[in-house]
Order: sequence, then C-alpha cells, then structure tokens
Amino acid sequence: MKILVAYYSKTGNTKAVAESIFHELQKEGAEIKPIKEVTNPDEYTLIFCGFPVHAHSVPVAVHNFIKKLSQGQKLALFSTHGSKTDGQMPKQAIHQAIGLAKGIEVLGSFTCRGQVEQEILDDLIKKPEHRAWVAEAASAKDHPDSADLEDAKMFAMGMLKKAMKFGEFHRK
Ligand SMILES: Cc1cc2nc3c(=O)[nH]c(=O)nc-3n(C[C@H](O)[C@H](O)[C@H](O)COP(=O)(O)O)c2cc1C
Repeated sequence: MKILVAYYSKTGNTKAVAESIFHELQKEGAEIKPIKEVTNPDEYTLIFCGFPVHAHSVPVAVHNFIKKLSQGQKLALFSTHGSKTDGQMPKQAIHQAIGLAKGIEVLGSFTCRGQVEQEILDDLIKKPEHRAWVAEAASAKDHPDSADLEDAKMFAMGMLKKAMKFGEFHRK
C-alpha cells in the first residue's frame, strides 16, 4: 500500500502536523509532499490530506487536489484552524472536504488549533463583527503544540490500521 502525506500550509502549522503524521508512517514507506508538488496522486492507495481552514473553508488548492482523486483511493483528512477544536467552524471545513471526495473512502479526520498570523488578527480586530473570533483565535498561540503533534501521530496509526483492515476485507 503506497501512502502519501500531502499538505497545504501557508505559515507552517499544517506542515508541522503533516510531518508528525509522516514520522509515524515513515517505516511503512510513506512519502510527504506539499500538494503543489504531487504530480500523480493516483499512485497512492492511502492519502493523508492536510490543510489550514481559510474563511471557514477548504483552500482552493486543496479543493482541486481532492477533486482529482479517484475511486478506490482512501483518504484521511486533517486540518489546523484558529478556532477552538470543539466549535462548528473546523467541522464545517472537514465536512466540506468530505463532500468533495465523491466516491473516495474517507477513513477519518483530525483537527487541531494553529497559531494565526498576527497580521490577520490585527486586520480583523478593526472590524467589530470579527472581534469575538479574534479573541478566540488569539488563544491558538503556540499551537500546534507537542500534545497536538502526539495526537496527530495517534491519528496516523488509527488511519493506517483502518486502511489495512479495509484491504483485508476487500481481499476476502
Ligand atoms: C486567510 C486566512 C483565513 C483564515 N480563516 C480561518 C477561519 O475561517 N477559521 C479558523 O479557525 N482559522 C482561520 N485561519 C487561521 C488558520 O486556519 C490557522 O492559523 C492555521 O493553523 C494556519 O495553518 P498553516 O500555518 O498551515 O497555514 C485563517 C488564516 C488565514 C491566513
């Protein structure tokens, strides 16, 4: 089973999570690449696809990447976001990503918080309707932290086990 950890990351948070996932899967021969460098996603059976939540949504580059995947491939999604993990916003983006993966088996998802660029916070604080979110997002400082990266490793192992089980099931 060929495994790819593909990620899109503007400021490095999602990249850190991707690397943690990759670390756990390296012994399985996994590869890690930024999404823009993935030329042939069809080569891989199990794809971990990671992205930052942008404006409640999946960034366009990731949207296009997921749309290119083919039936029979397995997908594990992960994201980072400024909002709190238990809020609606991160779930919304993951649901959007699942919706894009038509005919693809989505094995599961993982999300954690990621520090938001100061420039974005400085900009949004000027708009009263965004102040509450800025206050929430500011507390994502220093994430992903070591606990987030450990959780990401657990996620990687869980997804791998699930993908292998599916493989056995299909061979029977
Ligand atoms: C343009 C832009 C829009 C964002 N929109 C959201 C959002 O809607 N919800 C959220 O929780 N975080 C939002 N964030 C915060 C990022 O999702 C978060 O900081 C993420 O960890 C960045 O990941 P990266 O370092 O891999 O780019 C936004 C960040 C940027 C730059």
